[in-house]
Amino acid sequence: ARTAAVIPAAGRGIRLGPGAPKALRALSGTPMLVHAVRAMAASRAVSLVVVVAPPEGAAEVRSLLDEFPLGERTEVLVVPGGATRQESVRLGLAALPDDVTAVLVHDAARPLVPVDTVDAVAAAVRDGAPAVVPALPLADTVKQVEPREDGPEPVVATPDRALLRAVQTPQGFDRATLQEAHDKTVFDGEGATDDAGMVERLGVEVVVVPGHEEAFKVTRPLDLVLAEAVLARRRA
Ligand code: CTP
Ligand code: MG
Repeated sequence: ARTAAVIPAAGRGIRLGPGAPKALRALSGTPMLVHAVRAMAASRAVSLVVVVAPPEGAAEVRSLLDEFPLGERTEVLVVPGGATRQESVRLGLAALPDDVTAVLVHDAARPLVPVDTVDAVAAAVRDGAPAVVPALPLADTVKQVEPREDGPEPVVATPDRALLRAVQTPQGFDRATLQEAHDKTVFDGEGATDDAGMVERLGVEVVVVPGHEEAFKVTRPLDLVLAEAVLARRRA
């Protein structure tokens, strides 16, 4: 019985703007992906990390990770990813050895997640939860709208903010449960952006543990400013 981390890192990073694939962009001189791999390897629960690389970039990612060694305790595999996040996670799961019984799925785009958050998710899975997500309450009020391309969008509903949570990664799973979710879920277009949502569709209970503000996702250019500031604060 072992816990592995699967890191989907195959996205282009369109919302971040032109440049290298998002996971390979530097944060204070070190590729985002390397920060993310280190964050997973820092957890004593994790003994294997599977990095899902941009489809044409697996060899480049392999040599990059070899430049930033992690120590003896953590094995790192690199596999090529797919056209959607869901497909990339599926390809990562397919690379897991038989003795892996629990899986943490972690976005390369959340490079600064603290080890305590990783440990809390892994512990909840080890204690028997089939699916665990770290999440935070929302700062903004959320409106559901009727989407429109051409003008103001009518508001349809305002969900009670106190009942909402913004979910992060790593999301932790019993391996068989996550595999079943990926085997049974068929999505069009973008695919699922959240593994736990696929498990919910199986009718399996998903639980929330506290997330962390430093587990934010680097999505837009301003997020790079925040990430650099967090790293500067850690060095101080
Ligand atoms: N991801 C992936 N394979 C894809 C698409 C996304 O492995 N085909 C990964 C990204 O590399 C990222 C995580 O899923 O670590 C979360 O996705 P997101 O933040 O949306 O990253 P991108 O898809 O790269 O960004 P964008 O949507 O702005 O293009
Ligand atoms: Mg995306």
